[in-house]
Amino acid sequence: MKSQSKFLSIVSLIFFLLSSSPAQAQMSEITLPLKDGSVRFLAVGDTGRGNDDQYELGRVMAEYHKKFPFEFAILTGDNIYGKEKARDMKEKFEDVYRPLLDQGVKFYASLGNHDESNQRFYELFNMNGNEYFNFKKDCVSFYSLNSNYMDRRQLEWLNNTLATDDSKWKIAFFHHPPYSSGKRHGSSEDIREALEPIFVKYGVNVVFTGHEHFYERIKPQKGIFYFITGAGGKIRSGGIKKDSDFTAKGFDTDLSFMLVEIAGDEMFFQVIAKSGATVDSGKIALPQKALTKAAK
Ligand SMILES: [Fe+2]
Repeated sequence: MKSQSKFLSIVSLIFFLLSSSPAQAQMSEITLPLKDGSVRFLAVGDTGRGNDDQYELGRVMAEYHKKFPFEFAILTGDNIYGKEKARDMKEKFEDVYRPLLDQGVKFYASLGNHDESNQRFYELFNMNGNEYFNFKKDCVSFYSLNSNYMDRRQLEWLNNTLATDDSKWKIAFFHHPPYSSGKRHGSSEDIREALEPIFVKYGVNVVFTGHEHFYERIKPQKGIFYFITGAGGKIRSGGIKKDSDFTAKGFDTDLSFMLVEIAGDEMFFQVIAKSGATVDSGKIALPQKALTKAAK
């Protein structure tokens, strides 16, 4: 009898240890609506370290994919730190996100300051040899830009492509944040100067960036919603200035990624930390002007 209860307590201890593995410990409820036919994706940046933290966050992403089956992911740059040999691509990307890749999740990358231009030929980044490119998912048009430089050629391409883009939603993603409350880097004002007038002119709605190793939702600037989601591999604890006018919401104490769902005229987002906790969530509606234009 005594040995039976000892056996049971060992079994329950093992069960407790298994069930409290970090990836499952504090899974949040999905607040996204999971509407039929919606566009669902994950956004994250500054991932490619191949360290334990990146792997841990990768496992949390895979857990959330079960609850919120997103079709693709966008990478906001610094996809691979250090060497970029085949072995590095495997250890700093493929092995980390293997469960997602196996589920058919497509990754679309942009280039950060640590990325070599040759990444544009790496098949799993879906850049098709281009440093900047556009792709569409139903009513959403995505622009992956190379913010390492903004030459005339890239800006002309952006202008021309946006000018004929009648998608309901226009989303840009790249590495350097036009607005940031980071103590280390702060706003990339040259990028803001080059891109903001084009975004405003053609009605770009949302921008995702990285570079800063934390999460920040910026108060809307000229009608545009900016997110920094650069905590995919390393956290800069306390990296967000406390007195910044830009911050709508900041989170700089754990790694994180964003889950996004676009359904009709609304975009929903939920930000998940490595602990599994939800650290921000919300909804963005298309402005009336865009709705009228889209209805034409
Ligand atoms: Fe960077």
